[in-house]
Amino acid sequence: MSQPSSPGRRIAVGVTGASGALYAIRTIAALLEAGCHLEIVFSDYGKRLLMDELGPDAKVDRLHDLLAARYGPSIQQGTFDLHSNKDLGATLASGSHRCEAMVIVPCSMKTLAGVALGLSRNLIERAADVMLKEKRRLVLVPRETPMSLPELRNMVSASEAGAMMLPAMPAFYQQPKTIDDLAAFIAGKILNGLGFEQQLFPPWKGE
Ligand SMILES: Cc1cc2nc3c(=O)[nH]c(=O)nc-3n(C[C@H](O)[C@H](O)[C@H](O)COP(=O)(O)O)c2cc1C
Repeated sequence: MSQPSSPGRRIAVGVTGASGALYAIRTIAALLEAGCHLEIVFSDYGKRLLMDELGPDAKVDRLHDLLAARYGPSIQQGTFDLHSNKDLGATLASGSHRCEAMVIVPCSMKTLAGVALGLSRNLIERAADVMLKEKRRLVLVPRETPMSLPELRNMVSASEAGAMMLPAMPAFYQQPKTIDDLAAFIAGKILNGLGFEQQLFPPWKGE
């Protein structure tokens, strides 16, 4: 389903090594369909999980082809750049760069810890820190179960610092039929968290 258009909005997307690569590419596709310019950073384990979970052809350097094959030509309404997670000199590392919001999807417990503690060990963590210090939207999509006390505390710290904690917990009241329906639900929640209208799942009608 095509998304309501929001041309020109510039959004950062971090993809780390938690399970849930499908959530990442569904979210990226929906933001492209909305006409955004995306600045995308994969961690090394984010790249690995992309292939582990979506197949050997799911390589970051073929991301456009992967998205087009799965979601069709509507992704061409948006554009994206890929950044190296090692490049702390990239635009995203500075608050002067006008990237209005960021999502880390999925967000590993390691990266969650780095964001919660403001470590800025790589571009994903630094860009997240920029969002927090500049009081811009930061959505974190952790996936782990069960969770340790340090992990729970890191979620509280990140939330207190201003991030939205949006765990990868799809709901079932929409009666999903496929795995893609589950991914669309989480992607829709992420778009709402970033301040977008979305049509990935219908709003609850109170019935
Ligand atoms: C197959 C596989 C699945 C993993 N799933 C998760 C997960 O669901 N959640 C998590 O926090 N870490 C998970 N990990 C561990 C992270 O990938 C690991 O902590 C890594 O150092 C994260 O680094 P990054 O945040 O830079 O991507 C998984 C690792 C592998 C190899």
